[in-house]
Amino acid sequence: MCGIVGYLGKKQATTVLVDGLSKLEYRGYDSAGVAVITEDGSIDVTKCKGRLANLEGKLEVTPVHGNIGIGHTRWATHGEPSDVNSHPHSNANGTISVVHNGIIENYIQLREWLTEEGYSFKSETDTEVIPNLVDYYYNGDLVEAVMNAVKKLEGSYAIGVVCSNEPGKLVAVRKDSPLIVGLGDGEYFIASDIPAVLNYTRDIYLLEDKEFVVMDESGVTLLDLEGNKVEKEVYHVTWDADAAEKGGYEHFMAKEIHEQPKVIKDTMTSRIIKNEKIRLDDITITKEQIKNIDKIYIVACGTAYHAGLIGKNAIEKLARIPVEVEVASEFRYRDPIINEKTLMIVVSQSGETADTLAALREAKRQNARVIAVTNVVGSSISREADDVLYTWAGPEIAVASTKAYVTQLIAMYIIALFFAENKGTLSNEEIEAIKEEMLLLPEKAEKLLQNEEDIKAFAEENHMHKDMFFLGRGLDYAVAMEGSLKLKEISYIHSEAYAAGELKHGPIALIEDGTVVIALATQESLFEKMVSNIKEVKTRGANVLAFAMEGHTEIEKTVDTAKYIPRTIELLAPVLSVIPLQLLSYYTSIAKGCDVDKPRNLAKSVTVE
Ligand code: F6R
Repeated sequence: MCGIVGYLGKKQATTVLVDGLSKLEYRGYDSAGVAVITEDGSIDVTKCKGRLANLEGKLEVTPVHGNIGIGHTRWATHGEPSDVNSHPHSNANGTISVVHNGIIENYIQLREWLTEEGYSFKSETDTEVIPNLVDYYYNGDLVEAVMNAVKKLEGSYAIGVVCSNEPGKLVAVRKDSPLIVGLGDGEYFIASDIPAVLNYTRDIYLLEDKEFVVMDESGVTLLDLEGNKVEKEVYHVTWDADAAEKGGYEHFMAKEIHEQPKVIKDTMTSRIIKNEKIRLDDITITKEQIKNIDKIYIVACGTAYHAGLIGKNAIEKLARIPVEVEVASEFRYRDPIINEKTLMIVVSQSGETADTLAALREAKRQNARVIAVTNVVGSSISREADDVLYTWAGPEIAVASTKAYVTQLIAMYIIALFFAENKGTLSNEEIEAIKEEMLLLPEKAEKLLQNEEDIKAFAEENHMHKDMFFLGRGLDYAVAMEGSLKLKEISYIHSEAYAAGELKHGPIALIEDGTVVIALATQESLFEKMVSNIKEVKTRGANVLAFAMEGHTEIEKTVDTAKYIPRTIELLAPVLSVIPLQLLSYYTSIAKGCDVDKPRNLAKSVTVE
């Protein structure tokens, strides 16, 4: 992610840039910065780690005056969030500054080459090669230099560039990262997304890959990679800014639910490749160390804990290592048995959850090795763990976790396969078969999302209930727990998840006429047993909505409403079966008129114990 903006006009650039960045904070918010061409023609860069408010504070203390500039809000990928890693990045003498959204895949080679050419680097970012490359090619023509520089770049980018030798100009270009141009009255803008400019103009150019923007006081010129002029229609925006930040969805939660096919794919990219070993370049644990592990603790909170439950099943089944899953707030107060043969896997979207961090520290104090599964680069948990496996879910804004959870599941499967491969507990064929099914998950998730109207209808009919129950066996039980948590946290309906076989030992006393029961029956080896448990609640009057794997239409004889998930192997079913449960809680929350993205009493990142 990351968001970029640029301004050229008569207003104070910092005001416009900061305003634009505030609309892009959803794209990342671990640091922010601006570069402005000042009245004397030099470039002034102000940047710092932390939220945009920190940058605003800095600019208040030391205002920068000038009418042309670029700005950035960062979601770290290469290099932890820090002042020095924040954008804009500049060449050594500060004549060229760049903001960038995307990933330069060949930055290591470029950095080595530029170093040989006498260039030096201050940050750990991939971006810093860009101003230096532009400097290398600069021969009095910024546009030509940027064109030559991007020919060297592999990967994705939306880039904004300013140069003090040509102080009246702003150049931008994109490939595989979004970029738009705003056309105002004597003022022009670039931005990663339309909302950043909507306070100033509704006339937009939507750029295609490898299109260049050159702006100066006379206007905007669009060029292709060969320098030929590109003609483009102006797109007039008719919708409001708020909707656009959410990609046209009413809530961030809906946007994030719909991003799941993409983030599942992103989290597997470069790690799961057919007929190749699992690639975990970022993990340093050796084969010998894996073989020596005699126990794994997976420690996490809330939704991340539920992902851990699936992780236990996957690791025990595939790699045959005993796993205990624990809620972080309980873990360290019960004197757990930990030694140098223990591996702890901590799972945390934010990477900042206080209880999870405390458990990690306790494990390290007792010489265990720690792998973190987290979504936030440079978070406390990522810094303190021995190894980190990032879930590439992108910033999750809605308090209720959805896309982070499915990427945590993918991370769990990847770790389980990696251990199985290193321990030799599965044959190559068995590993390939699981990988093949994993690679099909994004398109199956997409297919599920096409049926959301059915779930919406069920939610609208049943939102007035005071209680709901979620049942499942095996992995379905873990998904039932997640479905129940999601429902209660955003719709405030009391809900419980039970292991379906445990029902008759007490909880069945709660079932009466009309009680809503959501039954998960996706585990084929447990299907018959699950149907028997569903019958037990049906005979007591429950209104049952069941989810089964496609093909199991016999379930329709037992339940009130049956829905299906696309066929996959049992182990991977949670990635799909959770999606309708997320949608159910989402539409129930809307039907009840609740604040979907910001439910009462909850916070996105729980940094207190
Ligand atoms: C529920 C939810 C929470 C978090 C929990 C842990 O939707 O989001 O239960 O999962 O607070 O947070 P992280 O993963 O940031 O450690």
